[in-house]
Amino acid sequence: MSQNVSSLLYIVSGVLFIMALRGLSHPTTSRQGNLYGMVGMGLAMLTTLVGHPPAGLGAWMLVLLGLAIGGGAGAVIAKRVPMTAMPQLVAAFHSLVGLAAVMGAAATLYAPQAVGILENGHIHKESLFEMALGVAIGAITFTGSVIAFAKLDGRMSGKPIMLPQRHAINIAMGIALVALIAIFIGTESKAIFWLIVLLSFALGGLLIIPIGGADMPVVVSMLNSYSGWAAAGIGFTLGNLALIITGALVGSSGAILSYIMCKAMNRSFISVILGGFGGDTAAAGGGQVETRPVKQGSADDAAYIMKNAERVIIVPGYGMAVAQAQHSLREMVDLLKKDGVEVKYAIHPVAGRMPGHMNVLLAEANVPYDEVHELEDINGDFPQADVAFVIGANDVTNPAAKTDKTSPIYGMPILDVEKAKTVLFIKRGMGSGYAGVENEVFFRDNTMMLFGDAKKVVDSIVKNL
Ligand code: TAP
Repeated sequence: MSQNVSSLLYIVSGVLFIMALRGLSHPTTSRQGNLYGMVGMGLAMLTTLVGHPPAGLGAWMLVLLGLAIGGGAGAVIAKRVPMTAMPQLVAAFHSLVGLAAVMGAAATLYAPQAVGILENGHIHKESLFEMALGVAIGAITFTGSVIAFAKLDGRMSGKPIMLPQRHAINIAMGIALVALIAIFIGTESKAIFWLIVLLSFALGGLLIIPIGGADMPVVVSMLNSYSGWAAAGIGFTLGNLALIITGALVGSSGAILSYIMCKAMNRSFISVILGGFGGDTAAAGGGQVETRPVKQGSADDAAYIMKNAERVIIVPGYGMAVAQAQHSLREMVDLLKKDGVEVKYAIHPVAGRMPGHMNVLLAEANVPYDEVHELEDINGDFPQADVAFVIGANDVTNPAAKTDKTSPIYGMPILDVEKAKTVLFIKRGMGSGYAGVENEVFFRDNTMMLFGDAKKVVDSIVKNL
């Protein structure tokens, strides 16, 4: 296959990736978006295989074996993973992208003749630069993603861990990394290459360890962005257009998503990116669990209150996802609508454990899209609502985000549920949410707690309706 044909096919796959991103931006087109992405990736792989066929049967076997193991494992994991474990799965997959960038750069360094980057027996300086940058970002992504996985999967405390002098250490390591990259470009030394890898592994861990609580979703998307840039760097070294396009798309979309989430949580992008800069306030938070009395109600009470309401706003959160209560919820809303109650859903941008988590679950239960509203569109409606029905959400309704400067969620916009006439909270007990802070709304006069598993409680409300 000529160079021109393969470049053209890579551009076609790049266009398919852009169409995939476009499709994934809305639940109605997301399946189609996924399909475009799969076709684009298949085309890019085929073009690479035909354009640069593996040399000999052994190499073919290795490629096919890699495809079978990777594709097989990916398919099994994707089928089995519960929706609630998606963020940690994404983090785990990013770690593999980072590791692949490290392996790709190492392979290129050890066999530069295979990718045609040699001149007079030496590797081109620009290739050495791309390789060093790609490997550094890849190694940082690897350990950073492993730590993010451990935190999200509950294998490591989700609380920020503040190492002493961490800013000074990070800056010193950053400077050392730049110096090593410069030496590597000058000397082509394999030992320096591995030093860059080791230092970047350490830096990746140190950057992510201090980040905790509400900043974790931003970290996952930021690592996504890093992994894209690492792939793009290696794409330049290998002269592979598809890798450059895909890397740049992943890098920029991850960065944009991180920025959007930071805005949604009112966090500074720079402070999150730099790993816990300004996170000291977050570490100081984590109020004590109180034992004040709360007003408790039954499913019967909830059914009665909602049947007699005119306007109900539903606020879903992580607990709804855990309980898989979305189908029962839809059933409950259908009954209320039959009784003439106006029902809307309010979605906080970081409700649940991943971007769009609630939208996906509600779409799965066939909730009409026009009933689902984003925070800025619906927040003004709470004062007119008779009932705010909070199902498994906590942090995203916590007014401490507006009033308590020491709270880890301070500055995050929240859904103003306490402004509704009555607030119904479904949760199993008085446990706190992801950020580990007490929610004042539980103790308000207009709040009624409905204790129990979200699905079971909603099922019994349905019976009572
Ligand atoms: P959370 O504040 O985490 O609260 C969820 C509540 O659900 C808990 O208080 C828990 O209380 C309750 N719950 C758990 N299992 C339940 C079940 N089976 N039935 C009923 N209730 C159950 O959730 P949220 O309000 O959705 O806020 C999300 C939080 O996660 C934010 O702090 C956000 O920053 C963070 N985060 C978000 C993302 C993204 S991108 N969405 C990613 C990572 C982290 P009980 O234990 O008392 O039942």
